[in-house]
Parts: sequence; C-alpha cells; structure tokens
Amino acid sequence: MPSVPPSAPYADYMRLPELLSLRRPLDERVHPDEGLFQTVHQVNELLLATAVDDLHRAVAHIRCDQLTPAAALLARASAIVDVATRALRLLARLTLRDYHLLRPALGNSTAAASPAWSHTRRVLSRLDEVFDDYLTRADVDIVDVYRRGEPDTVHRLAETMIDLDSALALWRFHHHLVAARLVGTGATGTGGMPVDVLATAIHSRAFNLLWQVRLLMTTGGHKDVGVAGERGRP
Ligand code: HEM
Repeated sequence: MPSVPPSAPYADYMRLPELLSLRRPLDERVHPDEGLFQTVHQVNELLLATAVDDLHRAVAHIRCDQLTPAAALLARASAIVDVATRALRLLARLTLRDYHLLRPALGNSTAAASPAWSHTRRVLSRLDEVFDDYLTRADVDIVDVYRRGEPDTVHRLAETMIDLDSALALWRFHHHLVAARLVGTGATGTGGMPVDVLATAIHSRAFNLLWQVRLLMTTGGHKDVGVAGERGRP
C-alpha cells in the first residue's frame, strides 16, 4: 500500500496542522490526560456548532413554510448532539485521581462559557418562536394534529423537535453524571456554579408547548394550547 505524503491536499483541506496543534503539547501538560480532556471539549464545541448551523437552516425553512427540509435538518442536528454526548461520556474514563491532578490547570475557566452552547440556546428559542408563528399563520391547532395522529408534515416536524429536546436532555443528563462522578454532588464547579444546578437543568426543555400537548393527551384537557390566535404558552 503506497504511503500518503503528509502534505497531501487532505491535510490542507482539513487544516490538520492547525487542528492537531490545538491540544496542549505533551511537555506542557500537567497530566497526559489533559489531551483527552481538551479533545472532548473541542469535539463538543465543533459538533454543537455544526448542529447550530443545521438549526439556523431549519429556522429559515420554517419561516418559508418548508417543513419537510426543516424536519430533516432537525433530525440531523439530534444525531449530531447524540455524538457529542457519546464524546462527553469519554470523560467518565478519567480516573478520579488523574482528573484532580489536572483540574487545578483549569483555574476558574469553565465550559459554562461555551460559545457553542450559548448559540444552541439562542437558536432553540428562535426555533420555538418560528414554529409557534407557523402554527398561527397556517391556522393549525397542534393538539388536533396529535389527536388525529396522522403522520403529516406538522406532526413529523413536531416529533423531530421532541427528538431534539430529548437528545439535549440526554446530553445534560450525562454531563451532570460526569460532573457528579468527577467532582461530586454538592461540589462547586471551576466557574462557581454548584453541580446540583446541572441536575436541575436536566429538566429544562426548549419546546414547552409540545411537551404540554402530552399532558393534554393524558388528561383529556382542553385544546386551547397553541391554537392560532390564542397563543397561551403552557
Ligand atoms: C470533566 C468533565 C466535566 C465536568 C466535571 C464538568 C462540570 C461542570 C460544572 C461543575 C459546571 C457548572 C459551572 C461551573 O461552575 O463550572 C459545568 C457547566 C457547563 N459545562 Fe461542564 N463539565 C465537564 C465537561 C464538559 C464538557 C465536555 C462540555 C462540553 C463543551 C461541558 C459544557 C458545559 C456547559 C455548556 C456548562 C453550562 C451549563 C448550563 O449553563 O446549563 N462540560 N460543567
């Protein structure tokens, strides 16, 4: 098998020299596992930023009443978040001793300042708004959509939104689990936030209206949620 020279166009196109220089060099690490620690965070930033790109495109599609391509992009964003979660879980493989050897190197830096995470939050709130606007514009009663149960485009899009919220809830769940495992419930993070707050955040949802529909289906409640013109947020 012929060997590929390191300067092959692949390395240029993928910007591998820059990419591989992003981890702290071995001789500057306080512990060798800083490599894994940085890589997992960087991979999470890259994947979440990629999901955010898809979510922005989905927002633009919904604004133009193009629900099918929006649903495909949301489904892909969920799949990307799933991979980010898998990567995050690698940090559970750090031994407690080794993590506490490298933790002082973090100082008071915290991934709570993650740009990808704050962009994710912002675009999710945009998605919630544009979906709500679509229901009003198209005079669609979301409770009727679910009661009919037909796999039409609104139903399909709404379910991909639930998939996405679920994927993010799983990310939060595993993030809390990793934090509880490595620093302990009751501890405070390097950024000053208690680990317990991460447990509470597991219950946070972007698309409350769609979760409220579940409750209405269960209780047989009134269908005045999300009906065009009524807009009452649950
Ligand atoms: C050793 C693994 C990790 C531990 C022990 C940990 C712990 C914590 C803690 C204690 C907080 C609360 C804020 C603070 O005081 O720092 C936090 C927040 C946060 N961490 Fe992590 N974390 C880990 C890995 C990650 C990874 C890989 C990411 C991905 C980028 C990440 C993203 C975040 C985000 C986005 C927040 C803010 C959460 C929010 O505002 O709801 N963390 N983390």
